[in-house]
Amino acid sequence: MKRVLITGGAGFIGSHVVRLFVNKYPNDAIYNLDLLTYAGNLENLSDVDGATNYHFIKADIVDASAIHALFDTHQFTDVIHLAAESHVDRSITDPLAFVRTNVIGTVNLLNAFRDTWKGNFEGKMFYHISTDEVYGTLGETGLFEETTSYDPNSPYSASKASSDHFVRAYGETYGMPYKITNCSNNYGPNQFPEKLIPLFINNVINNKALPVYGDGKYTRDWLYVIDHAIAIDLVFHKGKLGETYNIGGFNEWQNIELIRVLIKLMDEKLGRPAGESEKLITYVTDRPGHDRRYAIDATKINKELGWKPSVTFEEGLSATINWYLQNEAWMEHVTSGAYQEYYNHQYT
Ligand code: NAD
Ligand code: TYD
Repeated sequence: MKRVLITGGAGFIGSHVVRLFVNKYPNDAIYNLDLLTYAGNLENLSDVDGATNYHFIKADIVDASAIHALFDTHQFTDVIHLAAESHVDRSITDPLAFVRTNVIGTVNLLNAFRDTWKGNFEGKMFYHISTDEVYGTLGETGLFEETTSYDPNSPYSASKASSDHFVRAYGETYGMPYKITNCSNNYGPNQFPEKLIPLFINNVINNKALPVYGDGKYTRDWLYVIDHAIAIDLVFHKGKLGETYNIGGFNEWQNIELIRVLIKLMDEKLGRPAGESEKLITYVTDRPGHDRRYAIDATKINKELGWKPSVTFEEGLSATINWYLQNEAWMEHVTSGAYQEYYNHQYT
């Protein structure tokens, strides 16, 4: 029986990973450790809350002694580490918050894992969830491969690159068994409305301006969050130790083209005349250091583990919009309080 610690399980991707593991592995104990920052929300997991193999722990990964004490008590055999500050715009405003959580928090977990197992790492694993943003930016052509040099441009991606390096270094230095995956942009249910897709869905619903940064021709490679969770399960159980796998949607979109598809689908679903919400598109000042293009070469995970996305972008986007239309209370809860302050600071 495994005792799997999933950090950041109350967040967007983490909640989908926790749900999948709790339901699929009833004989493993799944511990969701989360500080419940603005991005963490236990409502995301109300459906698995009562499961006998599910345990929630409220804790801060930056608090080394609390993390060590939790490892002492629960003897976690495996870690899937997702807890992080995850939004580029916030990292531009407050880089140190990203150093604390993403770098120091990761090193605290690595230390606790190392000190708990003291070299007896047989059957144990530290799996670090990272991003394609560590590779920096692409021109018009090319793809990020696992061998692409790290070249982060934002405080967020610099902090994630640093945490990736620490994981690898602990593997080399202490012989710790690890895996790392670097994934492209996720979208889907339960994503906090500061990221492009849920922010724009919420703004279309409320007839608010859609703030497009710069010329809108920045490109991202979008993956449905449940396909990311499936990939994480596959790498966790079948991936090779000490390896990195890139995960991506084979699904590149310029922001402005994606926004047009989103508006078309939303106008249909909201019963508005076709193209009605296009008037909400508002070009605004660009993000500093804005990476022009991300695109993942996911050949390795496809060839080695047989993974590929299970839904098309149109299917995933339609399901995502439906989820937000059916979960207005969720949106109300996460956008009350401090959200308005953030929104005004970022957009007005
Ligand atoms: P998120 O911001 O939705 O969730 C982060 C979670 O971490 C929240 O539940 C938050 O409460 C928790 N957390 C933050 N600080 C903490 C702390 N100090 N101690 C304990 N918990 C803390 O993020 P997400 O989008 O779900 O991303 C999860 C992971 O996946 C991150 O590591 C991110 O870098 C990575 N990632 C995200 C994407 C994406 O498109 N969202 C793509 C690739 C990789
Ligand atoms: P985002 O969802 O923040 O993800 P990331 O920056 O990590 O890729 O942004 C996706 C793209 O959308 C990125 O090119 C920035 C752009 N964007 C806007 O144009 N307006 C916005 O209000 C936001 C949040 C993002």
